[in-house]
Amino acid sequence: MAIALSWIVLRVWLSPPEYASRRDDVEKLFTTSFEAYKQFAFGHDDLSPVSLGFSDGRNGWGASIVDAMPTMFIMGLEDLFDEAVDYLSEVDFSKSQTPDTVSLFETTIRYLGGLLSSYELSGEKYPVLVAKAKELADKMAFAWIGDNALPYGQIDFSTNTPIYSTSNIAEAGTLSLEWFTLSKYTNNATYANLSSKAVKHIANLAAPLPGLAALGIDPGSGNFVGSYVTWGGGSDSYLEYLLKYARLTNTDEPIYIDTWKTAVDSSIKILLKASRNPPWGIIRISPISMVPRSIIHLACFYAGNWLLGGKLLQNQTIIDIALELNDGCWNTYASTQTGIGPEAFAFIGTDANFTAEDGPTDSQIAFFNEHGFYITASHYIMRPEVLESNMHAWRVTGDTKYLDRAASAIDSFNKFLPATVAFAGLNDVNSADGGLIDDMESFWFAEVLKYLYLTFDDPTHISLDDYVFNTECQPFKAPPALDSYAGSGQLIETKPFVVQSGDSNAFLS
Ligand SMILES: *[C@@H]1O[C@H](CO)[C@@H](O)[C@H](O)[C@H]1NC(C)=O
Ligand SMILES: *[C@@H]1O[C@H](CO)[C@@H](O)[C@H](O)[C@H]1NC(C)=O
Ligand SMILES: *[C@@H]1O[C@H](CO)[C@@H](O)[C@H](O)[C@H]1NC(C)=O
Ligand SMILES: *[C@@H]1O[C@H](CO)[C@@H](O)[C@H](O)[C@H]1NC(C)=O
Repeated sequence: MAIALSWIVLRVWLSPPEYASRRDDVEKLFTTSFEAYKQFAFGHDDLSPVSLGFSDGRNGWGASIVDAMPTMFIMGLEDLFDEAVDYLSEVDFSKSQTPDTVSLFETTIRYLGGLLSSYELSGEKYPVLVAKAKELADKMAFAWIGDNALPYGQIDFSTNTPIYSTSNIAEAGTLSLEWFTLSKYTNNATYANLSSKAVKHIANLAAPLPGLAALGIDPGSGNFVGSYVTWGGGSDSYLEYLLKYARLTNTDEPIYIDTWKTAVDSSIKILLKASRNPPWGIIRISPISMVPRSIIHLACFYAGNWLLGGKLLQNQTIIDIALELNDGCWNTYASTQTGIGPEAFAFIGTDANFTAEDGPTDSQIAFFNEHGFYITASHYIMRPEVLESNMHAWRVTGDTKYLDRAASAIDSFNKFLPATVAFAGLNDVNSADGGLIDDMESFWFAEVLKYLYLTFDDPTHISLDDYVFNTECQPFKAPPALDSYAGSGQLIETKPFVVQSGDSNAFLS
């Protein structure tokens, strides 16, 4: 039985009037950024905001335009949105505009995600957006050879040939929301079937830890490569989509929820570790092979994902741990000179054992003693994950400290990211004058600015009860939530896992 009570998923809190101007601040960041992109880089993938040039790392189809469209629509920037539709209706997506091969993963989350979300948000008024998504997917479908469950990660669009290399579960397992949605609007089940076949194949392999698939996969043999498990890059959005696919489709196949629940359970029981510096970093999740334990900015999506899952499963344990993980990630912003968090960081667990040669430096240990983590890669490339989880924490708890955190990030962006035009990444988040990175990523438009905007927006607008966000923050319309997402009610029983030969990352040794 489906019921549509908002409290099942995420509560509706109105943000107090003193935050009213913050939504406008975010819109200003967006319009300033997009006007500069239009002036200096229109039609290319990214603006280079320092040199006033552009780059085409996403096959030159205008990644920033597609990525920005749903945000334009949500902000009510209709003229920009209409211009974007006009532009895209002329793009030939069957040919790469650059010599590069086409990434199945990146093209799916950015282009398919942006096109299909825009189609839905604008009331299905522009069928050309579906036609363009289909143009891409019909070429990308060549990534599945014969009866292979797993797609190859790259396709040569000029010859329709998949390019073989070792891939990862995020590349193969982060297609299901977009390809399912494409099937819905084309009445062709092939797309949904291809993408869900890949997820189910991965979930059914014997895993290193219950529910936690290994990061590496060989799309030729269909087997794992190595046994490294993580919630960070390479695995992240495979885990994210297990939950979100179950929510978007309300499928009665229990494998998605069961695997997600088991992955979280294993993470809590095996990967979660106490910090040696308890006042600041209580618990963090990270691969257990790493001493000290390293975490990347990308992994910080996990708090928001666990909050969503904790709500859907009505499991307070998961919610409480997610809020602590969220605090740990926010702490990496709160502790730097710019108020922005680094690309990678580490902490020293209670079980850490390292030498002066392989452990942190003295200055890293001093930073750790003060802040509960230390920086291992100091740059910021306009990533969203900490603010993504912060937005979920606000929607779940109604605690205005999360609004204060988002407001503080806006202030830091306005102070430290301005480039010649628009905004740029930072070389060193812990230095006020470390210099800028000459690239404005398309996910700045899609994710950072949308998550910030929604944090200060009326929570019934793009409510988390009504929409599921793809991993690029593009909302897809979901059916009313079920009253239970229990799956089979069981955790996954794992088959014995054999560490593959040549495995340099084995943490089970
Ligand atoms: C559905 O899409 C697949 C993949 O592009 C294609 O091969 C197939 O012909 C399509 N089926 C129909 C009925 O159009
Ligand atoms: C898609 O999968 C469903 C369920 O397995 C199957 O019934 C259907 O025939 C498949 N359709 C296509 C076009 O592959
Ligand atoms: C909630 O999740 C935790 C962590 O996975 C698990 O140990 C516990 O059994 C779950 N509670 C319920 C009621 O399912
Ligand atoms: C720390 O590592 C060293 C070298 O591997 C080992 O000899 C020592 O027993 C370890 N200490 C603890 C407390 O595990």
